[in-house]
Amino acid sequence: MKVNAKPDHKLLPKAAPKVTARGDAKGKKVNKAWLHDHINDPYVKQARKEGYRARAAFKLKEMDETLGLIKPGYCVVDLGSTPGAWSQYVRRKLSPTGAAVGALNGRIIGLDLLPMEPIEGVVFIQGDFREPEVLEKLEQALLAEQGPVKVDLVISDMAPNLSGIESADAARIAHLVELAVEFAQTRMKPDGALVVKLFHGSGYDDLVKLFQASFKVVKRMKPKASRPTSSETFLVGRGLKNVTER
Ligand SMILES: C[S@@+](CC[C@H](N)C(=O)[O-])C[C@H]1O[C@@H](n2cnc3c(N)ncnc32)[C@H](O)[C@@H]1O
Repeated sequence: MKVNAKPDHKLLPKAAPKVTARGDAKGKKVNKAWLHDHINDPYVKQARKEGYRARAAFKLKEMDETLGLIKPGYCVVDLGSTPGAWSQYVRRKLSPTGAAVGALNGRIIGLDLLPMEPIEGVVFIQGDFREPEVLEKLEQALLAEQGPVKVDLVISDMAPNLSGIESADAARIAHLVELAVEFAQTRMKPDGALVVKLFHGSGYDDLVKLFQASFKVVKRMKPKASRPTSSETFLVGRGLKNVTER
């Protein structure tokens, strides 16, 4: 794929870990180490060079290049899309020339709790995916003259704010994944695919089982751009086992 190297957004460093309330030496040390790692991270540098808003673009890129997830003409829903790197990647992939602007062969809808700077050709909905009225907005965005458009690919990088209380965090993560599966079952084409981010730890095995019960093929992915020290991981489900018509 040809990639338009012209940056359309300045890659901003993510918020560094907070210095402890006391602003003590340990907190400052952690902060400094994090900044050092961030600045020297090859994916951060590459994202800046290619005009991506976040290094996360390379996680989706690797999964797409391995599994062939995104094809011309596809309708893609990007859940937890802000700041927009995944949508940028999909947008370029659906462009006949790989460009960040101009012709787009397909449809992209991004959704996030937080605002997102516009990306040409990407429809954005701001809201909480757990709220029925936000889901309603998403369904409205999928309406075309001939009726509701079925989605080819749902990608979810949604991550809840973690409290540090393992059982509560596991429940929050599971809830988002379950909602994404439910959305895929009702709004996706039978041969479509769902990509979700989740975390190793309590609840992981149950979510793998949910994927196995919902999709014909399930792949576990840990792209290179996903930090090895992070428990973050991805599941890709392809081909619905049970299609729920709505
Ligand atoms: C890791 S970021 C996504 C990065 C994005 N994939 C990219 O490439 O730029 C996770 C996003 O999930 C969003 N999020 C978390 N919970 C959500 C929810 N319930 N509804 C919608 N968005 C949510 C957060 O606001 C955050 O922007």
